Amino acid sequence: MVHWNVTKRNVRILLVGDQGVGKTSLILSLVSEEFPEDVPAKAEEITIPANVTPQDVPTNIVDYSSFEQSDEVLNEEIQKAHVVCVVYSVDDDDTLDRITSHWLPYIRNAISADQRKPVVLVGNKVDLVEHSTIDIVLTIMEDFPEVESCVECSAKTLHNISEMFYYAQKAVLHPTSPLYIMEDED
Ligand code: GTP
Repeated sequence: MVHWNVTKRNVRILLVGDQGVGKTSLILSLVSEEFPEDVPAKAEEITIPANVTPQDVPTNIVDYSSFEQSDEVLNEEIQKAHVVCVVYSVDDDDTLDRITSHWLPYIRNAISADQRKPVVLVGNKVDLVEHSTIDIVLTIMEDFPEVESCVECSAKTLHNISEMFYYAQKAVLHPTSPLYIMEDED
């Protein structure tokens, strides 16, 4: 497998996904290392200093709320982000279906045709179910090469929370595919 090393001065991670999948909870769980019982609609932008990130790069984490933000603002945030985490809830199939019916096409539309925004698929709330969604997600990855990795986690039990943000950093700093698509020469 070819790995493309990218030099970046910071990594900007945007979380998107349907309402109630746990985007804000994931961010607050990472920062405070405990599950927040009361969550605001949207977390403030968070900057994590380089020395406490696994890849040693300052990292900004940005929340999205459809209550507070328009599609125009969302498009701007997608363009500014280096990587987008699309969050779904493993106990709600509709939120998983919406990854292919809405979120991945939406992200493609928000960026220019020659660009590829790396995506990490995040299945939250694994504390609520016995089954795994990874088989379904792997088939999504075959159809959408911009999806760099996937992870199942729980903001409530903190399971795989730091791993999720590590995968997001890694998708930017060590992508497995080029982030710019060369025009075919005729
Ligand atoms: P919007 O602001 O509506 O877009 O939602 P959001 O995606 O930011 O979700 P939020 O963090 O507000 O969480 C929605 C609900 O899910 C809250 O009641 C959380 O307590 C709950 N929740 C979030 N993460 C988990 C989890 O890992 N497990 C369980 N059981 N509940 C969770």
